[in-house]
Amino acid sequence: MLENKQIVVIVTGGIAAYKAPDFVRLLIKSGAEVRVVMTEAAEQFVRPFTFEVLTKYPVLTDQGDYPESIGHIHLADWADLVVVLPATANTLAKASLGLGDNEATATLLAMDCPRIFVPAMNSKMWENLATVNNVNNIRKGGDIVIEPASGFLAEGYEGKGRMPEPIEVLQAIKALVALDKAFNGQVKNILKTSPFKGKKIAVSAGGTQEAIDPVRFIGNHSSGKMGLALAHVALLLGAEVTLVMTPTARDLPHLPAIQTRQVKDARQLYQVMHELNEASDIIIMAAAVSDYRVETPSPEKIKKNKDTDQDHLQINLVENPDILKSLSQEGTFLVGFAAETNHVLDYAKKKLAAKGIDMIVANDVSQQAIGFSSEDNAVTIISQKGAKTLPQADKMMIAAGIFAQIAQELNP
Ligand code: CTP
Repeated sequence: MLENKQIVVIVTGGIAAYKAPDFVRLLIKSGAEVRVVMTEAAEQFVRPFTFEVLTKYPVLTDQGDYPESIGHIHLADWADLVVVLPATANTLAKASLGLGDNEATATLLAMDCPRIFVPAMNSKMWENLATVNNVNNIRKGGDIVIEPASGFLAEGYEGKGRMPEPIEVLQAIKALVALDKAFNGQVKNILKTSPFKGKKIAVSAGGTQEAIDPVRFIGNHSSGKMGLALAHVALLLGAEVTLVMTPTARDLPHLPAIQTRQVKDARQLYQVMHELNEASDIIIMAAAVSDYRVETPSPEKIKKNKDTDQDHLQINLVENPDILKSLSQEGTFLVGFAAETNHVLDYAKKKLAAKGIDMIVANDVSQQAIGFSSEDNAVTIISQKGAKTLPQADKMMIAAGIFAQIAQELNP
């Protein structure tokens, strides 16, 4: 979904720089054209030639030759988006102050496109008040600073400061591009005044699994990609996001700042959504919930009956609770999905009323290009105030469109 996007990647000097070539490769694979800028310190970790080979273009460094006479201005004008990866505490400080004492920070200073910083550093440096203030200052300007992950640091101990994996950062890049489109190129202004800042948003994703016996289950084709996209868009808009993941969504790459809960079947999902309900400002049920469960799952694997010539197996199903319908409306904006194969809008409107929710997103899962587990979706968003159709696009684009619509409902 990054076709025709011109992205500048600024690599600064931290050990996580070794992940930057992989990140650049992912951007190119997603369709973007990439240019790289490196600080002198970054060159200690990776050689510019690595990026030159990947991007098929020279790298802007402090000492090397560059095809354009004023490289940082050329790149600032060229870019649709800039990513600083990894961003050291030093570069964050310079960006916060507006210093431009090398090609990397001069490029940043000259840019008015959306900017995204991916910090990686020692946990004490990340927690230092000076860094905290710098990060807040950068965010105030409408730029994104990704929260680092907690885990094993290069120093040999646990702490918060690890750079998220490139595939996880890619979700943020896609979400930012999608938001920019959904808000007509005004994403920086939207991020500065986001109506979702500090809001608690819970999103369920994927398909539930109802046990038949210890090795079999009733499931569905939902991949969780729509829920994953919604969670990343909400995170970038400044929300505190909890992603409730069913088994099919469990391995999807997500940023560490998204809190996760794992569930298997509809009753576990019911339990977790009710736990989250009270504190949530917005709940989006993107999960495909099994309407029925096996009345009495077998504790042992069901064996084929070899002694009789019966070729039928009878399994009794009982109805699962309707989670959306049971969630309290008070103070929580509730969004449901209606995956239909026929009479799409008709059925969706009926569900909006029957479940007593604020918004329903209807999609036609009979079409392969936009059905379950595909990258794209096409939806009609229905509320009391009317309907809006979003034509076929990447699920991240659809997610941004849904949030643009929720923003309108909350702040007309
Ligand atoms: N949903 C729910 N609890 C259920 C079933 C569905 O909360 N037991 C939610 C889904 O997450 C979705 C919305 O309700 O957001 C609509 O789900 P869908 O399966 O399309 O509708 P159902 O109400 O199950 O009706 P039907 O299967 O008959 O179309």
